[in-house]
Amino acid sequence: MATPKEILNPLRNSVSYSLDASPTATFHSPPATGSFMASLAMRAAAKQLKPFNTEDIKILLLENVNQTGRDILTAQGYQVEFLKTSLPEDQLIEKIKDVHVIGIRSKTKLTAKVLQEAKNLLVIGCFCIGTNQVDLEYAAKQGIAVFNSPFANSRSVAELVIAEIITLARQLGDRSLEMHRGTWNKVSNKCWEVRGKTLGIVGYGHIGSQLSVLAEAMGISVIYYDVVSLMAIGTARQVPTLDALLDEADFVTLHVPETPETKNLLSTKQFELMKDGAYVINASRGTVVDIPALVKAMRAGKIAGAALDVFPNEPAANGDYFTTDLNGWAEELRGLNNIILTPHIGGSTEEAQRAIGIEVADALVRYINQGTTLGSVNLPEVNMRSITLDESNHARIIYIHRNVPGVLRKVNEILGDHNVDKQISDSKGDIAYLMADVSDVRHEDIKDIYDSLDSLSSRIMTRVLY
Ligand SMILES: NC(=O)c1ccc[n+]([C@@H]2O[C@H](COP(=O)([O-])OP(=O)(O)OC[C@H]3O[C@@H](n4cnc5c(N)ncnc54)[C@H](O)[C@@H]3O)[C@@H](O)[C@H]2O)c1
Repeated sequence: MATPKEILNPLRNSVSYSLDASPTATFHSPPATGSFMASLAMRAAAKQLKPFNTEDIKILLLENVNQTGRDILTAQGYQVEFLKTSLPEDQLIEKIKDVHVIGIRSKTKLTAKVLQEAKNLLVIGCFCIGTNQVDLEYAAKQGIAVFNSPFANSRSVAELVIAEIITLARQLGDRSLEMHRGTWNKVSNKCWEVRGKTLGIVGYGHIGSQLSVLAEAMGISVIYYDVVSLMAIGTARQVPTLDALLDEADFVTLHVPETPETKNLLSTKQFELMKDGAYVINASRGTVVDIPALVKAMRAGKIAGAALDVFPNEPAANGDYFTTDLNGWAEELRGLNNIILTPHIGGSTEEAQRAIGIEVADALVRYINQGTTLGSVNLPEVNMRSITLDESNHARIIYIHRNVPGVLRKVNEILGDHNVDKQISDSKGDIAYLMADVSDVRHEDIKDIYDSLDSLSSRIMTRVLY
């Protein structure tokens, strides 16, 4: 079987077109999904990459990105520079000029000012859940893809909620605080087993459905409400309205996104509809519960306990910030009995960090080596089956362009003399992403194709992988 000249990456603003293979770069097939060890094993089946350009892929990883992610990227043969901290803006601008990939967590702000200096940047990996530290729109306009890991911590949140259900039912937080103060207070009044109780899950997505499985294993009946019709896991049951769920549930737990519709989803009216002595858990977003209304319902004894992991205003750093300065009702909340208050730690586990490292690094490798944008938050999501080992003279063309009329015709005029095996195109707002695999191309053809596409007025970025 012919040695594959795999996936290459012509650099964005490069003007030289050396077709020599880099002597040092050994690239590997991107992994399929599966366990970390399985992915590592797959990566061992190396395919040689022949870069279009003599430069290798340079990656800057900031903010102590998890070892799992670093391992995946270095195993590809990329040049990876790793720093434990974020960088001040001036140093960041200096460093970003040179790299093709940057990996960050939440502290590094990739503003338009910083990104405009990033002349070679192809892709940004946010090794975290959120992406609001990146100017996504500006990045898209430069053809820079952004990936994150929105669901790697679902299990961690679900486990926290399970712990909270039992903690609230047994008033463990209060008993523990009393003991810390030297008070022995052995009570069974209004302390319950969770077996046989009903858990109402609002939002049956990644977290809600994980939680459903764990809760049933403890003998809890699960009902859920979601705006879309979703297949139940186990013997869980979807109910038609939020009111129906509130009417039936002993524990109500919220797992919805932050949207205008979910703001104050639980407020005075909803607390009134709930069973006397029910419990409320919110590990979704701080805006979803009307906290002053919850304080009232708890003081009135209507709600027997609550666990809150998220708040409308959360401090940017650790410290003594959970005060009325941040949220006017903080003192009242802290004064309630049987309330668990945690600093947005639902997803904060070692396992989640590892999973984030794997997911984001895998997405970066797929994007660099194959051009696949699945999971990108700012470019259209485009996937195309890989070029196979026996397709040795095939090249993959990636053309990121402004979404204006007539581009496809011009692109196909350029590709027209070659056999286009497969082609796909999609757009998101002003930006469109086109992928095409052409067969039987020689090195000279690749240069011509690259130059012709790159000179089109609609061009944002051209890449050729082979
Ligand atoms: N506490 C933490 O550390 C932590 C960690 C991860 C996620 N989260 C938060 O948890 C929430 C859920 O995360 P996920 O990963 O399960 O999200 P998801 O997108 O997988 O699921 C959300 C579900 O909510 C449903 N939904 C949307 N609007 C609704 C509404 N008005 N009423 C009922 N259902 C509605 C959706 O249809 C979807 O099924 C998000 O707000 C996320 O930000 C918190």
